[in-house]
Amino acid sequence: MKMIMRENWQFPMNLQRKSNHLNSIILGIESTAHTAGVGIITSEGKILSNQRSMYIPEEGGIHPREAARHHSDTFPVLFDKAFKEASLKPSEISLVSYARGPGLGPCLRTGATAARAFAYSHGIPLIGVNHCVAHLEIGLLEGATDPVLLYLSGANTQVIAYASEKYRVFGETIDIGIGNGLDKFAREAGMGFPGGPKIEKLAKGPKLLDLPYSVKGMDMAFSGLMTAAKSKLDSGHSIETVTYSLQENAFAMSCEVAERALAHTGKTELVLGGGVACNERLREMATIMTEERGVKCFIPSKDLCVDNGVMIGWLGYRMVKGNYKITEEDNKVHQKYRTDMVEVTWR
Ligand code: ATP
Ligand code: FE2
Repeated sequence: MKMIMRENWQFPMNLQRKSNHLNSIILGIESTAHTAGVGIITSEGKILSNQRSMYIPEEGGIHPREAARHHSDTFPVLFDKAFKEASLKPSEISLVSYARGPGLGPCLRTGATAARAFAYSHGIPLIGVNHCVAHLEIGLLEGATDPVLLYLSGANTQVIAYASEKYRVFGETIDIGIGNGLDKFAREAGMGFPGGPKIEKLAKGPKLLDLPYSVKGMDMAFSGLMTAAKSKLDSGHSIETVTYSLQENAFAMSCEVAERALAHTGKTELVLGGGVACNERLREMATIMTEERGVKCFIPSKDLCVDNGVMIGWLGYRMVKGNYKITEEDNKVHQKYRTDMVEVTWR
């Protein structure tokens, strides 16, 4: 598909009307950071395709323009694969939903351009959704009804729940995201990217080292923990022991804040989301914590925890079904689109 960037673009009002006649198949487009994703899901929650491609920098951290180039190169392939897997024609799609933020500007614009090009060329309504809220609402597909979300990804570390017409951030990192922290440690220890899964494989112990445990009220800090872990490695502790201790501390901090959010809100469901939620030890800790509290734990499959187009499509559908009114704003990306900026009119 040819990508067209448009300045001073006007929202075609006639496309809004079609959204009132949704018949059921939604296309979701994700591009906030490393991952380009194209998902197709029905209004009954049946996933027809979940295509993803992750940009992996040759060295160092993510370069936004290179990630965006990766996305524009791979979107045409992902679209093709998704439609083939779902055995659908583009004209059978009734809504296009894309992540309008938060995220990296060039990456967001690439996804938005792909979404617009697809929607306009087929006359399908377009909705722009919040990426973090999508991580929470995919938990509803797993059976949750009003959960606390423990959202642990590369850039984001937040504990989110619904209260008074908004998704509120009950706690978050005050420095780096947990995944970016793990990636940074891994890079400095020469393990390559992404670091989280590599750390998980090595984290065998046997010793639990004394490392910073930084929970401040409902917020967390990971930077000092990562630096201290690197010093332990430099001072001769084994990589197995250091990675084990690093995981234990980082995940215990996260689960502590999530547990306190459950206690404050009185909610009885926890959902895990974000790439770090693929980690088996984190999944185990969250399961133990929720069992001890007598609340339910919903852990989406790994391909729904990481960034993906399915969750974006699902949220777009829920919003439109819940009478969210598509406006011109839906066409604008928003790099700093915080979770609590979203007016939740669809619940
Ligand atoms: P967001 O835009 O939501 O911040 P992201 O671009 O960071 O997302 P995700 O796919 O949600 O993308 O998460 C990627 C992060 O997840 C990376 O930091 C990676 O190291 C981490 N991660 C992936 N698998 C694991 C794992 N098994 N254990 C720990 N961390 C993991
Ligand atoms: Fe994410």
